[in-house]
Amino acid sequence: MSLHLGSIAPDFEANTTMGPVRFHDWIGDQWAVLFSHPKDFTPVCTTELGRAANLKAEFDQRRTKMIAVSVDSVEDHHKWLGDIEETQNAKMNFPIIGDEQRKVAQLYDMIHPEANDTLTVRSVFIIDPNKKIRAMVTYPASTGRNFTEILRVIDSLQLTDDYKVATPVDWKDGDDCVIVPALQDPAELERRFPKGYRVVRPYLRLTPQPNK
Ligand code: BEZ
Repeated sequence: MSLHLGSIAPDFEANTTMGPVRFHDWIGDQWAVLFSHPKDFTPVCTTELGRAANLKAEFDQRRTKMIAVSVDSVEDHHKWLGDIEETQNAKMNFPIIGDEQRKVAQLYDMIHPEANDTLTVRSVFIIDPNKKIRAMVTYPASTGRNFTEILRVIDSLQLTDDYKVATPVDWKDGDDCVIVPALQDPAELERRFPKGYRVVRPYLRLTPQPNK
């Protein structure tokens, strides 16, 4: 079954570097980022996991838990963690799933045979507290992810869940937002956007970020 935005993230049980998890219970009432890395003891993955660990406070602020997965064993992950901490000046502070049987990798379609028969690509799934997949991004093994961008997407999702806005190109927290085109009633516009808004085109209206 293919996964789409809005699909319920498949649930699973797995062993991790922080003990066993049942995925949906582990998410609880928070947001989650599930991301795959191709293999333990590889350079790009080492930098990514260190960076993610160093950004944990930022993810916490957004009520978002991180969990990584690769097709190596928890035992191998543990051996690798010391290298990550030493070389990336990081303290590993989120679980890494051991997925030797490729159960999670298959559930989430993380193995792309045209890229590699056995290893996962760099998948990112952003999942909301209702366990719905809200964003999916896929990178090749050769390209390390930008975790600041992942935080930016979470900011956009959480903002646009609460207000009738969308976020324009290169938006970051604090920038102006666009008002959703469906909202046309002048009284409602005034009520929802007391800071005012600017009409660039009838379909392109900018307003200061409503929750700032
Ligand atoms: C890496 O994380 O460095 C990596 C993993 C698999 C293929 C290429 C690079």
